[in-house]
Amino acid sequence: MELFVDSADVAEIRELAETGLVAGVTTNPTLIARTGRPLFEVLEEICRLVPGPVSAEVTATDADAMVAEGRRLAAVAANIVVKLPLTWEGLKACRRLETEGIRTNVTLCFSPAQALLAARAGASYVSPFVGRLDDVGEEGMGLVADILTIFRNYRDSLRTRVLAASIRHVQHVVEAARLGADIATVPPAVLRQLVRHPLTDLGLERFLADWRKTGQRIL
Ligand code: G3P
Repeated sequence: MELFVDSADVAEIRELAETGLVAGVTTNPTLIARTGRPLFEVLEEICRLVPGPVSAEVTATDADAMVAEGRRLAAVAANIVVKLPLTWEGLKACRRLETEGIRTNVTLCFSPAQALLAARAGASYVSPFVGRLDDVGEEGMGLVADILTIFRNYRDSLRTRVLAASIRHVQHVVEAARLGADIATVPPAVLRQLVRHPLTDLGLERFLADWRKTGQRIL
């Protein structure tokens, strides 16, 4: 499973991208608003930092306007993926943009039926929102599992990748990987937590203390 960063904070993305472990970035209007910065400036900087797919979301609600916005967003850089909401208009725009060779990420997916439609519209990615389903008492990861099961039935004809989104904690990432999600887009704080384990810290402390006692150096 690939790991994307779910953020529009350029400083955070730069720091995480330096690990070489970040395969892509997802943004949305809320994340852009949080930066307090101009959209296109932010997108240009992110696309320079991360060569992988960078999702940028349209804000229009009818298909024609979504397509126009999508073309404008895609003109920022070759690695832009246009994010579209899972509505009929979004699906129409998806089909049209994909036909033009512009990759799309159909977002705000909350049901397997919606995911199937996104796939039929030719989306490059579909984003089931795990945490937001958990928030309303549903089993968010169950949606990822259902989508993967359905897509596997048609693996020869469907090329849509499943991007687990609205990830809130480490267990979400682990479960998405266990299920076989193609990608998880992870907030920076959760991405940092992935590496943490108290026994790693303790083990390292002991190794280094024992090594110091030998008085040796490697270099
Ligand atoms: O980028 C979309 C998604 O990951 C949003 O997450 O935490 O706002 O539900 P969240």
